[in-house]
Amino acid sequence: MSNSDIRIEQSRSNPDRIVGAVLRTLPEYFGFESAIVEYCENARDKKYKTFVASIGKSQTVGFAMLVVNSETTAELWVMAVLREFHGKGIGAKLVDAVETEARKKKCKYMLVKTVGPSQNDPNYFKTFNFYLKQGYELLMECDFIWVGSFCAMLLKKL
Ligand SMILES: CC(C)(COP(=O)(O)OP(=O)(O)OC[C@H]1O[C@@H](n2cnc3c(N)ncnc32)[C@H](O)[C@@H]1OP(=O)(O)O)[C@@H](O)C(=O)NCCC(=O)NCCS
Repeated sequence: MSNSDIRIEQSRSNPDRIVGAVLRTLPEYFGFESAIVEYCENARDKKYKTFVASIGKSQTVGFAMLVVNSETTAELWVMAVLREFHGKGIGAKLVDAVETEARKKKCKYMLVKTVGPSQNDPNYFKTFNFYLKQGYELLMECDFIWVGSFCAMLLKKL
């Protein structure tokens, strides 16, 4: 699979099905069904835009959701790539797509929240490093946004 085989498109019909299907393949990252249900509800809400990555005829391999929080700031709400496709450049292309959309909306910054390094979760260390690689910087880490886990907020100037 080469980088040019990966297609990214905004999903206009049933994005919640794609979100739920991909998240349920990654229980070590998304272990709470209630959180998955909430992400699916977000996907049905027009405020959130879902970008879907596919390869071949139409095999869905990942997605990223964007929400515009204010006139200046957008948020990469949640993203995931099927495990067998990690490390093939799909995540980077999804980040690029949501950033392009946020720039079109005249946003100056992109925010992303993820489980922070203080949590000592080996899986989320990888996620955190992935965001650093995409040009995001740690703004703050705290234990009062999510119950029971450290939340890292990362920011990138668009
Ligand atoms: C995080 C995730 C979306 C990244 O997607 P991906 O398709 O595996 O990432 P890519 O292959 O596009 O990686 C892009 C770049 O980041 C780098 N990268 C990826 N993981 C990395 C890591 N753990 N440490 C350092 N760099 C990393 C890659 O080497 C690549 O660099 P390159 O462009 O120089 O080759 C994916 O691994 C995933 O779905 N993880 C589980 C769910 C998750 O954590 N979602 C985010 C919730 S907040």
